Amino acid sequence: MRKGIRIDLAPQPPLRVSASGGGWRVRFGLTSLALAAIVGSTLALSSLRPAPVKPVETYERKCSSCHGKEGAMLERGFEKKYASASELREVVESMPGAIGMRAEELDVMVAYMRAVSRGEPFLVWTERSANRLEGEVSPGGATVRATAKRQNLKVTRPSANRWRIELPRDIKLEDIEITAQRGAGRATLRLRESPYSHTK
Ligand code: HEC
Repeated sequence: MRKGIRIDLAPQPPLRVSASGGGWRVRFGLTSLALAAIVGSTLALSSLRPAPVKPVETYERKCSSCHGKEGAMLERGFEKKYASASELREVVESMPGAIGMRAEELDVMVAYMRAVSRGEPFLVWTERSANRLEGEVSPGGATVRATAKRQNLKVTRPSANRWRIELPRDIKLEDIEITAQRGAGRATLRLRESPYSHTK
């Protein structure tokens, strides 16, 4: 039997902590900010990490043959058919393209599907190097902007579904806010909260 406890203090975004030694797996549904406040310095805010999967690319590769580019063939509002977040998760988990996906990866795919269901743009941070951040946006037609404490950051688009931010010196990841807009639909991603939008 799997040893573990699960603590859900708030629905999302997910952040998992594995304590070394006992094999216990503690799952906090808390923002990293709130979690950092609880555990103090052991999880400093600078521990922000990108998402464990590139959901937009993965979707196009594994799911779009049945559901259309950027979810075009999924019914708008399909999310409402499911009584709970875990039911929606189960459906995604049962998809042929989801075989072998780790739980953390599945969480990101489910978030993307929520955005598709709501007809809103989806944003995810997927990579970090010394002075740049990269991620994905869907649909590719959405406009992406980024700020850090009201300072506008330069955003480039290596391809329709990708964004890149060159980081000025002394910028804190925790201060970065990215928005995607398309028509009236808008997504806001605060890196201090989660590496992807639509966590709930
Ligand atoms: C071989 C075709 C096929 C592939 C590939 C596939 N799906 Fe599906 N998907 C279906 C079918 C058929 C349904 C409806 C039946 C069901 O609910 O099980 C469905 C239902 C869904 C739903 C619920 C839609 C609704 O209206 O309730 C979501 C969300 C979804 N798929 C996401 C995904 C994701 C994400 C992937 C890739 C990881 C994926 N699917 C890959 C065939 C596919």
